[in-house]
Amino acid sequence: MASLFFCSDCGHETSKWTGKCPSCGSWNTLREADKTMSRKASGGTVQAVVPQRITDLVKQETQRFTSDIGEFDMVLGGGIVSGMVVLIGGEPGIGKSTLMLQLSDWLGKKDKKILYCSGEESAEQIQLRSERLRIANPNIWLLCTNDTEAILQSINTHNPDMVVIDSIQSISLSNLDSVPGSVTQLRESCNRLIRTAKEKNVPMFVIGHVTKDGLVAGPKIIEHMVDTVLYFEGEMRNQYKILRAVKNRFGSTNEIGLFEMTGLGLSQVTDPNNVFLSHEHQQIGISVGCILEGSRSFIVEVQALATASNYGTPQRVVVGLEQKRLALLLAVLEKNLALYLRSSDVFINLTGGIKTIDPSLDLPILAGVISSLKDQALPENSIFIGEVGLSGEIRPVSQLENRIKEAIKLGYERIYISEYAKTKLKAKLIKLKDIKALYRIFS
Ligand code: TYD
Ligand code: MG
Repeated sequence: MASLFFCSDCGHETSKWTGKCPSCGSWNTLREADKTMSRKASGGTVQAVVPQRITDLVKQETQRFTSDIGEFDMVLGGGIVSGMVVLIGGEPGIGKSTLMLQLSDWLGKKDKKILYCSGEESAEQIQLRSERLRIANPNIWLLCTNDTEAILQSINTHNPDMVVIDSIQSISLSNLDSVPGSVTQLRESCNRLIRTAKEKNVPMFVIGHVTKDGLVAGPKIIEHMVDTVLYFEGEMRNQYKILRAVKNRFGSTNEIGLFEMTGLGLSQVTDPNNVFLSHEHQQIGISVGCILEGSRSFIVEVQALATASNYGTPQRVVVGLEQKRLALLLAVLEKNLALYLRSSDVFINLTGGIKTIDPSLDLPILAGVISSLKDQALPENSIFIGEVGLSGEIRPVSQLENRIKEAIKLGYERIYISEYAKTKLKAKLIKLKDIKALYRIFS
């Protein structure tokens, strides 16, 4: 059998050993895979598999059960599917264990039997958390172990309706040489768990820790293996948390669910429109935009600050946005308006801890920056929806009408959009051709 090597950092597989991983560029990370666990067994007879006409296929309805917590069910695409394996990723301390214990409670109350497996915390610690959350649910069964094998056995003997694994990094298979948390352990434990979930047709939620830069090897490898990947995100000091579907075999991706961390655990936020606003819109440097996440639009607030720089290289700091996008927008500003920012520090903050790459924020970002530079607040009740091109033109954005309707619903009176936008809506719209037109709002 041919040898198989894989990188212990990124999981890349290759048939030849090299000093440097061809995928992630790390040195000396290629290891030979354990031959007994190589996936392709050599030899053996090939079973006959016949193709089917696509029109002959019978549509299978996916059976779902819901938690009745709308924000949670929506992110999953309408509820939990039997046998689905979901990775819940997020930074330590964001609230993954809390969410999973609460999910266990929601489903336990609907007479589902839950197996909560923890290799992270002791039974006492989990009991303390459940006391704090006022959870007393006889349908939740706790298994504190670091042994993947013990978890699999327990699933087989107890036949739960749902399984939680907290966390994939804390459990391991004792028959493998690798240390717990290594790529081999993560991959093999995950493999075995997935196989059991499919065999028993039981849904499984697997927690995985991710560090600040989101680059921990483990969860990245597991992402490819599971059906659904949810990321739990938000700023530590902010009580709002966002559950985001980044992969979903049973629903659409980019759906987000909004939760608030309270003294009694997480509660869902069904009206998101006040969450990302500070209600100080008429201040200098503050503008409002409307972003689209999944199928929903949110009104968000952009805070911009441009001040004289004390150092040679001016600072460009963003919270909730891409740094490169800001650099690009400032370059467009300099080129088109001859506004020089080389000796200014520029800070941009999205209120409420939301993160987005929605290009419709270009316009509110630049509106905020100009407002800060000119020391002049934006017009009352104004909202900005548009992408800015490299030549300074303002471009229409996707699903513009939905965003406009959202803005109208919330009482915005001046809705700034691209002159090139095609919309039958008329009311309250102010069209801008380019950023020179944006600049003319001031003065
Ligand atoms: P936790 O779920 O342990 O995070 P993770 O499993 O992702 O590491 O909890 C995260 C934080 O939530 C912790 O700092 C305490 C806080 N918290 C509350 O504010 N209210 C609560 O009811 C609970 C249980 C936790
Ligand atoms: Mg935890």
